[in-house]
Amino acid sequence: MPNDFEIKGMSEHDIPEVLMLERESFGKMAWSSRDFESAVNSSYDYPFVIHEDSHVTGYSVLRVLAPEAEVEDICVSSDMRKQGIGECLLNHMISIARENGAENIYLEVRSKNEAAIGLYRKTGFQDSYVRKAYYRDPVDDAVIMVLKL
Ligand SMILES: CC(C)(COP(=O)(O)OP(=O)(O)OC[C@H]1O[C@@H](n2cnc3c(N)ncnc32)[C@H](O)[C@@H]1OP(=O)(O)O)[C@@H](O)C(=O)NCCC(=O)NCCS
Repeated sequence: MPNDFEIKGMSEHDIPEVLMLERESFGKMAWSSRDFESAVNSSYDYPFVIHEDSHVTGYSVLRVLAPEAEVEDICVSSDMRKQGIGECLLNHMISIARENGAENIYLEVRSKNEAAIGLYRKTGFQDSYVRKAYYRDPVDDAVIMVLKL
């Protein structure tokens, strides 16, 4: 069940493990240590982690600038996928966005990222528009998706 995972606010101690997962999943597009430090210390970013046996298994970053919110990052360790962790993080971000006065949540995703698009559609996000050839390494379109709260 997705909601069985305990979600905590990301701390500076989580960043080294978060960075490893981030680099594994996003390669050249990965956030830097400074990006995560800035999210941890920001008043409008909400960075979250899920741990299993004291290790980070998933994390996400939500930005809320009401009335808009944006899913900035979401990632689950490759050996822990398809167990509901991503859905749990996303549902938590939706609750936090709503609590903080957001009316819409936006995100952008590679058009070929079937796992992420499947997760977003399951959670109620809808396609808004496409930015052609927005991504590099490899080139791909960005699909902008929105959830109206
Ligand atoms: C996208 C990602 C976060 C999903 O995390 P996850 O924990 O594996 O997802 P969940 O187990 O919570 O799956 C929830 C739903 O997402 C969809 N989904 C998940 N993986 C999928 C896949 N490989 N193919 C198609 N749909 C998938 C399904 O609808 C699934 O519901 P179901 O289990 O009832 O079928 C994970 O694949 C990941 O970290 N990918 C690399 C990083 C990334 O691409 N992040 C998104 C950037 S925009």
